[in-house]
Amino acid sequence: MNITVEKSKPLKGTIEIPADKSITHRAFMLSALTKGSAKISNYSLGADCMSTLKIIEMLGCNVEKINSKELIIDSKNALTEALSALDCGNSGTTTRLMAGILAGQNFNSELFGDKSLSRRPMKRVIEPLELMGAEFIHNDYKLPIKIKGSKLNGINYNSKLASAQVKSCILLAGLNAEGITSFTEPYKSRNHTELMLSAMGADIKVNENTVQIKKSQLHSVDITIPGDISSAAFFIAAALIVPDSDIIIKNVGINETRLGIIDVLKSMNADITLLNERTQSNEKTADIQVKYSDLKAVTIEGEIIPRLIDELPIIAVIASQAQGTTIIKNAQDLRNKEADRITATAKELTKLGADIKETQDGFIINGKTKLKGNCEIECYHDHRIAMSSYIAGLICEKPVKINEFQWVNISFPEFLELINSI
Ligand code: S3P
Repeated sequence: MNITVEKSKPLKGTIEIPADKSITHRAFMLSALTKGSAKISNYSLGADCMSTLKIIEMLGCNVEKINSKELIIDSKNALTEALSALDCGNSGTTTRLMAGILAGQNFNSELFGDKSLSRRPMKRVIEPLELMGAEFIHNDYKLPIKIKGSKLNGINYNSKLASAQVKSCILLAGLNAEGITSFTEPYKSRNHTELMLSAMGADIKVNENTVQIKKSQLHSVDITIPGDISSAAFFIAAALIVPDSDIIIKNVGINETRLGIIDVLKSMNADITLLNERTQSNEKTADIQVKYSDLKAVTIEGEIIPRLIDELPIIAVIASQAQGTTIIKNAQDLRNKEADRITATAKELTKLGADIKETQDGFIINGKTKLKGNCEIECYHDHRIAMSSYIAGLICEKPVKINEFQWVNISFPEFLELINSI
């Protein structure tokens, strides 16, 4: 699907953002590991989460969709061997977390994915799982991966990467391993797995950047999922850069480990207010009011990177509209996402007229520049590149054509309908 974006009038109104992708994956997977059945409300309809849902069904869970907002997962008390290989689609979270779950089962499995996922590195999970006693057949640590179900033992793992996917993989394997499994990361990555495991009765302890887990039987809990701050980020950006905008985004997850985008934007002088803060299913949520702002450049580096890793392409768009030089460093792993997001962002924003240079681990962006548009944008099979380019298109002088915009469906099928509504 190719689309054209035109210069926008001020954005006004109130919208509700769809469910968090990370939390939906975890709600589906962890419910599959419990004894009993649970109601999951407000789940993500994105293709990535649907890959996870299909996989837990293939592993013997009963999934009953009540409507597009609610479903019931009945784990049938234990996972069983799938009849065929498990399709992870485009989803790194599905692959890496499922690898942790499947490594310790008493049956074998195989994971595969699409072209983009088959290029992504899996060594980061295979290596620690092998230390726990897991057995794999793989091709240079890439998909497809065959997993031989094995008896696992706890390990004490010091990860070089701050990655919630790696951490969650090891914790889920630890749930089914003898002894204590301990995972330490250099900076704190998103902690949805820890929060949900704890609500489900796992024997889990968190001490700064270290998490310890012991073999535990989970009990099912009903879960209501908040809106996805990573999806809200595109609307926050739009309101900040389209003159005279003023919007409210309702029911957004504001877990501290995901809030790097808000912290950075506030330091850039963004007019953002969190309203009506509350907690649901162990996760903090709020409504977010955003107004068009006079932005200034910042440096983004170090511990904040894992707290905004998925927002860096849209932060690059915002930085092109901030006065001064924004420097983004220590984000090397952005090259290992659905696309190489450093090259893709720099290339497409340059086409639009931004002054952006890629570095080995980030960007240097000079603002504020008038974006001219009048070009064709590629999405690189990457939903976040597609949506970042769309938002940049809203302030371009001339229309922008975006090719293969359907990649938006990976996390946010409702994107076009919502942006048109404001
Ligand atoms: C995710 C963790 C992050 C993020 C991804 C979702 C998760 O990946 O980029 O979109 O749900 O755990 P890494 O753990 O590879 O940084």
